[in-house]
Amino acid sequence: MSVSADSGPSAPLRSGPVRVLGIDTSCDDTGVGVVELLPDGRVQLLSNRVWSQTVHARYGGVMPELASREHVERIDEILQDALQEAGLTVTDLDAVAATSGPGLVGALLVGLMYGKGLAQALNVPFHAAHHLEGHIFAAASEAELRAPYLALVVSGGHTHLFDVPRDGEYRLVGATMDDAAGEAFDKIARLAGLGYPGGPAISEAAMRGDPNAVPFKEPLQGQKAFDFSFSGLKTAALLAHRGGARAEDLAASFQRAAVSFLVKTTVRAAQANERRTVVVSGGVAANGALREAFRATGLNVVFPGKGLNTDNGAMIALAGAAAIRAGRPASALNGSATAYAPLANA
Ligand SMILES: Nc1ncnc2c1ncn2[C@@H]1O[C@H](COP(=O)(O)OP(=O)(O)OP(=O)(O)O)[C@@H](O)[C@H]1O
Ligand SMILES: [Mg+2]
Repeated sequence: MSVSADSGPSAPLRSGPVRVLGIDTSCDDTGVGVVELLPDGRVQLLSNRVWSQTVHARYGGVMPELASREHVERIDEILQDALQEAGLTVTDLDAVAATSGPGLVGALLVGLMYGKGLAQALNVPFHAAHHLEGHIFAAASEAELRAPYLALVVSGGHTHLFDVPRDGEYRLVGATMDDAAGEAFDKIARLAGLGYPGGPAISEAAMRGDPNAVPFKEPLQGQKAFDFSFSGLKTAALLAHRGGARAEDLAASFQRAAVSFLVKTTVRAAQANERRTVVVSGGVAANGALREAFRATGLNVVFPGKGLNTDNGAMIALAGAAAIRAGRPASALNGSATAYAPLANA
């Protein structure tokens, strides 16, 4: 089959299991993973390799240009590692997926161009993936993800609640009005001198703290909508810190307040939309207290498997496999990366 500049093959050429490679370079993690889509529609995770960039630590935040350069330097090696872990060589791949947005444009471009080039060289279909759809599909490593369901993405840049009435259809039912949940964990950890990334640091310190020590007021009390806000919790944390609260007590009290707020709002949205299944994903979904509180709701809650909460390539491979299973056409090879890309399409 000949390949033109703006399109590759639209569906995998082989029958039988379809091996999908996924690449994510949206921020400061170089992630490559491989999944296998079986003829009966089930998906199996074959590998997941992530290089988390450390170069940004000295700046206290991600430096976009350094992130792009490091993706360029690492991506070949991470791809080889992912193929080796999957027991495959590059010619065994039947499709390639890569994140096209949202994210840092320079960083996104590295994985996107790499993925498109690879797909063209192998003459296999290419799927441009939405980063948040990737986070949601990370949970497909644990359970078959079929609509209808509700999806809460709690990450470093998003706190978004989607209703998914049909596969591939996303209706935004709530979102943060200020900081993302992960961002709040990071900022409060920094304030309390607990280090970075803040999420794991807070959850570790919280084990040694008293969750009743600092009284946090639940944000947006009485709202009818399903929105989120963390600025009030941040201010309360700052005042408590200035008032001499122990870091461990601050961590335990903030974690309890944030978890309760996230769970209560999601449960209300599930009831309002008559959904029994809730997918909870993104970096904050790694939080043990959040998982425990969600499990206690009685809803059918699905979380990503180990290593799939924060950014990774396997989640993009899982989103790509879902697109192939749904018969979505392959993406054009001349599509570009976008910093801002809403997922909601309904
Ligand atoms: N155990 C944990 N508890 C709470 N938060 C956590 C935990 N582990 C990681 N996080 C938080 O998850 C965030 C990173 O998640 P993720 O990689 O999904 O975000 P991102 O990719 O930077 O953002 P986005 O996907 O919105 O662009 C960080 O803010 C981090 O503090
Ligand atoms: Mg992410």
